Amino acid sequence: MDSLVQRTLLPRPRTKRSAPQGAGLAVVTGGSSGIGQEAARLLARRGHPTVLIARRRDALNDLALELSALAPSMALALDVCDDQATQATFGQLVHDRGPVRVLVNCAGSGLYSPFLKHEPTDLRRMMEIHYFAAATAIRSVLPGMLDQRAGHVVNIGSMSTKMGPWGHSGYTAAKAALTALTQTLAADYASSGVHFSVVHPGIIDTPYFDTPDLQPLRQQLRRHLINPERVARTVVRLLDRPRLEVCVPHHYRLVDAIKALHPTMLHHLVASHSRPTKC
Ligand SMILES: NC(=O)c1ccc[n+]([C@@H]2O[C@H](COP(=O)([O-])OP(=O)(O)OC[C@H]3O[C@@H](n4cnc5c(N)ncnc54)[C@H](OP(=O)(O)O)[C@@H]3O)[C@@H](O)[C@H]2O)c1
Repeated sequence: MDSLVQRTLLPRPRTKRSAPQGAGLAVVTGGSSGIGQEAARLLARRGHPTVLIARRRDALNDLALELSALAPSMALALDVCDDQATQATFGQLVHDRGPVRVLVNCAGSGLYSPFLKHEPTDLRRMMEIHYFAAATAIRSVLPGMLDQRAGHVVNIGSMSTKMGPWGHSGYTAAKAALTALTQTLAADYASSGVHFSVVHPGIIDTPYFDTPDLQPLRQQLRRHLINPERVARTVVRLLDRPRLEVCVPHHYRLVDAIKALHPTMLHHLVASHSRPTKC
């Protein structure tokens, strides 16, 4: 495993807060930045020993060091698109640390252009990072959760799955697969003691937009940007009050109602407003 990942296990700090009853091991993919970083902070603050997963070792180590003041924290550098490495890493983690109580599948990146401009490899990468990586992580931790009759898988979806905005075909299809996986898992394992949720963020102010293709979108949507901590708070709240699907901000759930009543109107509105001004 050491050839596949670099890891840092930080010592249990003297100042560790007492964990709330039932706080168990939490794993956050995409923990080096944005929503995942904020979710990891809040989980550690609740006393969950927290494992951070992403590719950038330095960013992970910095955060693990910060979190070690709240709860024992571990950083695992891993490209979750490498399925074998992901299986090996999660397998080793469960073997070494026991059952996972909370899994937040947050690792992700965007793709923004009309469908024919997407390279086939980009389309596959979207499915790998948003769907297959999450599915592999869930397959690794779910048996332990079922044995314990306790656990919560929170997948980070996207409001784009409810609206189908311009330029997001590859990304949205992958997030829709993740959403459908969450819904069906909740049916497969109803009454098992394990909960499944998908959180649909709107437009969140994170480094997600720091790529040349997505930067103009950040500019165009700047009035709607919200803080990643708000999504993280929703993730953590779900642990106390499990729900299958949540939108952030909360009022975006009205999109479902508008879609049910006027699907064509919603489609026209989204298609015209999400199109870049230069197109
Ligand atoms: N920002 C938004 O408006 C928005 C809206 C809806 C949904 N989301 C979703 O929210 C999630 C978090 O995004 P964010 O906004 O917080 O963006 P972000 O700050 O760019 O965070 C993305 C995280 O994913 C990690 N990551 C990317 N590729 C990876 C890979 N191959 N293997 C392992 N880790 C990988 C990144 O870490 P490394 O670079 O260190 O690997 C980083 O920690 C994503 O799934 C995104 O699709 C975001």
